[in-house]
Amino acid sequence: MPLRLDFTNMMAGPLPHGAGLTASEWAAGATHFAAAHAAVMARHAAGTLGFVDLPSDHATRDALLTAAHAHKGAVTDVLLLGIGGSALGPIALRSALRRPHWNELDATRRDGWPRLHVLDNVDPVTIEATLERLPLTSTLVLVISKSGGTVETMAQYLIVRAALEAAVGAEQARARLMFVTDPEVGALRAVARAEGITTFDIPANVGGRFSVLSPVGLLPAALIGVDIGGVLEGAAAMAARCATPVLADNPAGVFATLQWLADTRHGAHVHVLMPYADALRDIAAWFVQLWAESLGKIRPDGTSVGPTPLPALGATDQHAQVQLFMEGPADKTVVFLAVAGKEALGPIPARHAERPELGYLGGHTLGRLLDIERQATAGALAARGRLNATITLPAVDAPSVGALLYLLELATAYAGELYAVNAFDQPGVELGKQFAYAMLGRAGSEAARAEWDALPRPDPRHQV
Ligand code: PA5
Repeated sequence: MPLRLDFTNMMAGPLPHGAGLTASEWAAGATHFAAAHAAVMARHAAGTLGFVDLPSDHATRDALLTAAHAHKGAVTDVLLLGIGGSALGPIALRSALRRPHWNELDATRRDGWPRLHVLDNVDPVTIEATLERLPLTSTLVLVISKSGGTVETMAQYLIVRAALEAAVGAEQARARLMFVTDPEVGALRAVARAEGITTFDIPANVGGRFSVLSPVGLLPAALIGVDIGGVLEGAAAMAARCATPVLADNPAGVFATLQWLADTRHGAHVHVLMPYADALRDIAAWFVQLWAESLGKIRPDGTSVGPTPLPALGATDQHAQVQLFMEGPADKTVVFLAVAGKEALGPIPARHAERPELGYLGGHTLGRLLDIERQATAGALAARGRLNATITLPAVDAPSVGALLYLLELATAYAGELYAVNAFDQPGVELGKQFAYAMLGRAGSEAARAEWDALPRPDPRHQV
């Protein structure tokens, strides 16, 4: 069974209270989608949309597998330094495609593959604690940055390299470093060239949040034994399904068009992604960056647009956020991620037949309970006219995860066209970066310093 997207509960007719997308909105959406599809194809033909080519890059896949097998047994730990797209994709792949609690398992249960630690922030307490705990003499350090100059990653690199050199000496430390960065530009590339550090390329036309299927995601995944060939096969299969401009046949197109129509025609500005599988929880976190940073933009006409993505986890968030989804403002869509084939897992023993709260559970399984809870939540939302859809994965395996990641990436590219924004830049984060550079005294940030100095200072009358 291929990955399936069921959007019955997004449509007027099935939904009560006059909610849902009407047939005429959907028909108009199909026309808008055909134009969006053509625009994405044109971007690809112009060579600016590199993520589309990643599923068929078999040469890179083979080089990554060779590197992974060379390190298997030679290192116990991989430490990844990166932030944003350079960390969220690797974390999502580890959670989805390795056993739960991977880093706590012994080497036998990890089949000899290393642990993977990701430092995706510059909180000194975390970094110090990680370095204290890691066996640096058997650790491989990956520094991942598309730009090769992101302040957080560069600061981590300087600290970790010094610690590595203190542990194994300068020469060994060089051999224990690997970079993943742009083929030409950036400080990391320059350091790699000067010092001969092993480096894998992020194609110039692949941006940070669209890089999970490049060495950004696939190198750390391969190093811990993930079937990266399977991930790419799944992505390629999804790419083939999405070749068509016919909306009804294009899963990424359906996802993008549903969300765009719900937002712009029905006020559903908040887009919840809610997996019913712990393994997929970090894919929801990865999606938040993809959707938010790609679509939250000022359009050429000066209007601000952009839906707000929100991660949730079933069944956990039934006891935290679902009350809001049911009875709070009707400004949300909820897309559930379901996983087929778990019905037999986690048998629940029969006991306390005399207690109504316990007796009925015996003979069921946790897999069935989790899936029934998902169906019940989707049905309850639909009964109250709350828009929701379900993506069902045949399993949490490499091809399904590859297909899902690619679907969401391509949907984001389509959504950029539907919202009429450039999904591939992030000008809104620039001013904060410049202010930080100015305060840190980076050369070239004098104009930002002047703007920073002109800002209002904290006012004691407005402090408590
Ligand atoms: O999507 C993006 O481009 C950004 O969110 C980046 O992933 C993030 O800023 C990290 O950038 P870099 O990989 O250049 O260090």
